[in-house]
Amino acid sequence: MSRCLVTGGAGFIGSHLTEELLAAGHHVTVLDNLSTGRADNLKGLGGHPRLTIRTGSITDQMLLAEVVRDADSIYHLAAAVGVKLVADDPVRTIETNIYPTEALLQLAVQGGGKPFFLASTSEVYGKNPKEQWTEEDDLHLGPTSRPRWAYGCSKAIDEFLALAYFRKHGLPVVIARFFNVVGPRQVGHYGMVIPRFVDQALSGGPVIVYDDGGQVRCFAHVREVVASIMSLMGTPAAQGQVFNIGSDKPWSIRQLAEAVIAKVDPAVRIEHLPYSQAYGDDFEDVRRRVPDVSRLKQTIGSTPQLGLESILDDIIAWKRSQIASAAG
Ligand SMILES: NC(=O)c1ccc[n+]([C@@H]2O[C@H](COP(=O)([O-])OP(=O)(O)OC[C@H]3O[C@@H](n4cnc5c(N)ncnc54)[C@H](O)[C@@H]3O)[C@@H](O)[C@H]2O)c1
Repeated sequence: MSRCLVTGGAGFIGSHLTEELLAAGHHVTVLDNLSTGRADNLKGLGGHPRLTIRTGSITDQMLLAEVVRDADSIYHLAAAVGVKLVADDPVRTIETNIYPTEALLQLAVQGGGKPFFLASTSEVYGKNPKEQWTEEDDLHLGPTSRPRWAYGCSKAIDEFLALAYFRKHGLPVVIARFFNVVGPRQVGHYGMVIPRFVDQALSGGPVIVYDDGGQVRCFAHVREVVASIMSLMGTPAAQGQVFNIGSDKPWSIRQLAEAVIAKVDPAVRIEHLPYSQAYGDDFEDVRRRVPDVSRLKQTIGSTPQLGLESILDDIIAWKRSQIASAAG
């Protein structure tokens, strides 16, 4: 049993991780400013004797020092997240995603070398044209004049920092690049595709597909992603390494829209919208994003396996329960 700090613990992935760490017997402190996370995500844990929730920002150095002092390990998930938010507010992206990570790494070293998990993203690969991306592949980020790349670039700098702290100070860091993590509690306001499609289908449509819908993505259930994070943190061989975490089963966005519609209401229509109208003229998308997860498999013996059909069932059931409880 140890004391874990989860930054971004009121967010989508962070709240599921918090639940599982508590279930494993740990004490958990959540630090979250509730900017994209929600207190409701932790409602089911209300009054848990081993959970402490601190509402505040990772940019607050004093608060950061205090919560790190009381932790044995750090799970750093707080970030400015989502294609839309990042395109709308690149300054916030850079300020939230870079300086606090360095401050946390320094505090982890000063505290005697506290195990450190860093949430990174498949966005770091940028527009790499390969069919499947491995952790040693080159990063193909677009020009700095396009704010969209600020997110991937900020996370790539976080990775450089974490690996530098591993090499220089022996800090036990584990870095994970998430590929479209999905599941209950994810919300669609920030450009996340499945919650957006499910919301649109449940309210009668249309389901809005950007561009031609030929973009390819892989979707992993948050429950399996959290299991991978916890296994990696319990595996000494994972330290100082970067891992792709996700499913490697590709789906086009058009197929995804059709699958959601088939499950919710076959009468719902699909409409296409140019990226320029969704995100502005300077937006560039990544056409294909499929991970090679062999390193994850070799290190912990498993990878996310749940199929999209089951994942959608879970998300739609959760959304319907939310709608039913809001209606009283
Ligand atoms: N969901 C995905 O598919 C995905 C993919 C790639 C990477 N990631 C990474 O995983 C992590 C979690 O993402 P998520 O999908 O759960 O998103 P999320 O928005 O639900 O979680 C981020 C959390 O960080 C908090 N936060 C933001 N700025 C903060 C600040 N200054 N101080 C304190 N808390 C702050 C938010 O309130 C939120 O609770 C992020 O680091 C994200 O970059 C997620």
